Amino acid sequence: MPATSIGARGAIITGWGSALPPRVVTNADLMRTLDTSDEWIKERSGISERHVGGTTSELSVESGRQALRMAGLDPSEIDALVLSTTTPDRTVPATSATVQNALGLKCGAFDVNAACSGFVYALTVAHGLIAVGARKILVIGTDTLSRITDWNDRNTAVLFADGSGAVVLEAVDGPGQLLAWDIDADGSAEELLYCELGGTIHMEGKEVFRRAVRIMVDSGQKSLEAAGVSADEVALVVPHQANIRIIQAACERLGIPIERAATVLHYTGNTSSASIPLALVDALNAGRLKDGDNVLLVGFGAGMTAASAVLRWGGIR
Ligand code: COA
Repeated sequence: MPATSIGARGAIITGWGSALPPRVVTNADLMRTLDTSDEWIKERSGISERHVGGTTSELSVESGRQALRMAGLDPSEIDALVLSTTTPDRTVPATSATVQNALGLKCGAFDVNAACSGFVYALTVAHGLIAVGARKILVIGTDTLSRITDWNDRNTAVLFADGSGAVVLEAVDGPGQLLAWDIDADGSAEELLYCELGGTIHMEGKEVFRRAVRIMVDSGQKSLEAAGVSADEVALVVPHQANIRIIQAACERLGIPIERAATVLHYTGNTSSASIPLALVDALNAGRLKDGDNVLLVGFGAGMTAASAVLRWGGIR
């Protein structure tokens, strides 16, 4: 469902951070154990290397700490932690509990699982908490897909990896940055991409590709329309980092030049919940956004979920 946030108390992003495990696995490394090639992986996915290692809580603590530091906040000031992850460290408790404790937060904490669309879901939920009274929220997207990847399966092993990205959201008087949002799911497509408990990822790559472009475009268009923002008014699109060809096709159909897309997948691979915040943080650190710019976040994932949000960058707390 698409919706605007008009009338609700708004929020702005005041801090951000990211974390990638130190170990880099290149395409050449994968060629030692898989029947694949650097050319194939780059050409079909756009990925050259990826980072692998660590746990979901460790990476979340690193990105979350950076975001808190940048926002200049003491951990005790945070009202809620929302962690998007598909790869929790334990079944129970939620990984957000481990992260809450490690960061010294004194607030409610919970996980959101909407696969690779999860960060946008989490950001939307966090805005909902702000609308009903929370003032400062830490939103983290982290996945350690290497732990649920079959490293002998060339269909999936060349794509998935680990990482984390975080933002601090702070309430403001007035509308804030979020102009509109959309969350979607089609559970009937569950069998296209899944991982049984204790198992590894199964994926029908071609069909996921086909649907991914369609549902990203659909969700992105719904949010843009709800926000009253046209494609040529989008300064930066931050898409889920699954495959550069999916990003190119989606941008083309949305009518947004590919030069306006934030991309990190060439060095991160597909990090699921982390992919949108990693790309956003990369763009922010590169100075690609100025006050007043419209930003479209748009993702898709297993479930098959899709989610998008339109932000107008800037604002003072
Ligand atoms: N290295 C070399 N060859 C490979 C390979 C690999 N890692 N994986 C598959 N191949 C082979 C296939 O066996 C096939 O060979 P064939 O023509 O002899 O049958 C050939 O390459 C083409 O495979 P195909 O599956 O048609 O490639 P593709 O262009 O569809 O690209 C994906 C494959 C997986 C990269 C692509 O479909 C994709 O990205 N899908 C979406 C996945 C996704 O986004 N998942 C995450 C969702 S959040």
